[in-house]
Amino acid sequence: MRSAHFISFSLFFQVSGALYRQWIPDTNFNNATNWDKGRIPCENDRVQFLRDQSVSVLVQSPLNLMEMYMPLDGEIILSHGAGFAASDGQSESGCKRGEDITFKDPNQYKWYDPKYWHTALSMSDLENEKYLFTLDEEGVPCQYDDVIFRPGTSFRVDLDSDIQIINVKTISIMNRKFASNDEFAEHQWSNTGKLQFQGNGSIAVTNTKCEDKSGCECGNFDNHRRICSNLQQGSENHFPGLLCTSPLKPQGHCSKVCGAIIYLEYGPQFDLESYRAQLGFSFLGLKYEGVQMSVTKVYKKQSSKKIIPTDAVPRIQIVLIDEVKSAPGTLAAELAEEIMEDITSRGDTFGIINAELRKSSNSEDQFGGNMNAGKIVGIVAGAFIAALLIGNLIYLIASGRIRAKISSAVIKFRKYNQFENEEAADQGFRNVVYGSSVHLSPDSNDLYSGENTITIVTGQSGTNFANPLFEQDFNEESC
Ligand SMILES: *[C@@H]1O[C@H](CO)[C@@H](O)[C@H](O)[C@H]1NC(C)=O
Ligand SMILES: *[C@@H]1O[C@H](CO)[C@@H](O)[C@H](O)[C@H]1NC(C)=O
Repeated sequence: MRSAHFISFSLFFQVSGALYRQWIPDTNFNNATNWDKGRIPCENDRVQFLRDQSVSVLVQSPLNLMEMYMPLDGEIILSHGAGFAASDGQSESGCKRGEDITFKDPNQYKWYDPKYWHTALSMSDLENEKYLFTLDEEGVPCQYDDVIFRPGTSFRVDLDSDIQIINVKTISIMNRKFASNDEFAEHQWSNTGKLQFQGNGSIAVTNTKCEDKSGCECGNFDNHRRICSNLQQGSENHFPGLLCTSPLKPQGHCSKVCGAIIYLEYGPQFDLESYRAQLGFSFLGLKYEGVQMSVTKVYKKQSSKKIIPTDAVPRIQIVLIDEVKSAPGTLAAELAEEIMEDITSRGDTFGIINAELRKSSNSEDQFGGNMNAGKIVGIVAGAFIAALLIGNLIYLIASGRIRAKISSAVIKFRKYNQFENEEAADQGFRNVVYGSSVHLSPDSNDLYSGENTITIVTGQSGTNFANPLFEQDFNEESC
């Protein structure tokens, strides 16, 4: 079994449309971004978890704490050498005054949010941070992908979905790779699994690869609207104003883009992965460095008067977008032209039958292409006059005849960008909520081998009792 598994793994690169997806947000205690104060708790702080929430938290180093209020349901995983000790109340440098410090809402991280995934073609690309550009719908795991939760992290992911079952090829948690659905289901419904995965969708591990070398559907079409609305939340800048006059709407993307799209019709010989590699090899060199490219299979709905679109014809959609914001779409359009030329000369060797190019036009295109000589003379003259006027203005400002005013818009923008206080987390922690059963890792499934898990299950709220954590020394490893 082992060797068979290994062989299929090494053949992975020839499989169409399978990518590696790494989940980004963690719920580690020692990650400063997880705390409302933007720092790790000091020993004089009052540490709080939102009471009505469940979370699994990994602690990576020894902690001295005065007071900690636990969530309703949760677990604390202690790495090697990590543990708790009661603070003697002496202040540390930089930690003078004890404050309330609260763990941020761990329910905010949604599976169907491209912000929370890194995508790469291989594990080594993931490690080297060579991430792939994707359209938004493919910015979260597709059905034939390998999903990785980083070793040494705890996490919580919201699986709310418009489809009941979210298929993936494999899933790795804490270095354990699940390739069998039974094994993963067992984990998903374990105490730890229930703290890691919430929401109304559930993950199924299929361990199947895409068998169609022309590529497979991603499988996220039904969650398109969910993906787009998640993406929009908390990042107002994701959909910037577009600078081209007729932006394009790629299938599977949330916003319109400036750039170019090529649609390919293909024959049985066509191989998506090798064509994608070929494009990268031939074109994405120095000249086109700023261009993002996505090559996917889409089902283009045929325009017909039928109410139900019956025959959706699969096409290959090549999307080219300029990263550079100054001249949007120009480099991408140039690249698209080159790819079209290449297809004309040797497209048949790749199994390409037909190609159709669409470009977003921008002001530069219009200046260069569609204008007659008279208009250009007019524009040049206009620009010359404008330059004279600006020159005059600068002269007047420099000589002190006009006072320059800093526009108030600039100031407002600065203010807007300043860090805003997190909403006060006064959720009413009335009592220390250590549960009636606090125990060390009996059911941690070997996942965090060598690490201790403390599971907290609340008794009646209002139950007060001695905190067992602070009476034991957990620095000893229990292997
Ligand atoms: C801390 O969490 C943030 C967001 O969840 C993540 O981007 C970052 O990589 C984490 N830091 C470390 C050191 O893991
Ligand atoms: C999950 O809940 C959402 C509402 O939050 C709903 O739109 C969706 O259909 C539900 N999905 C399933 C599979 O029940």
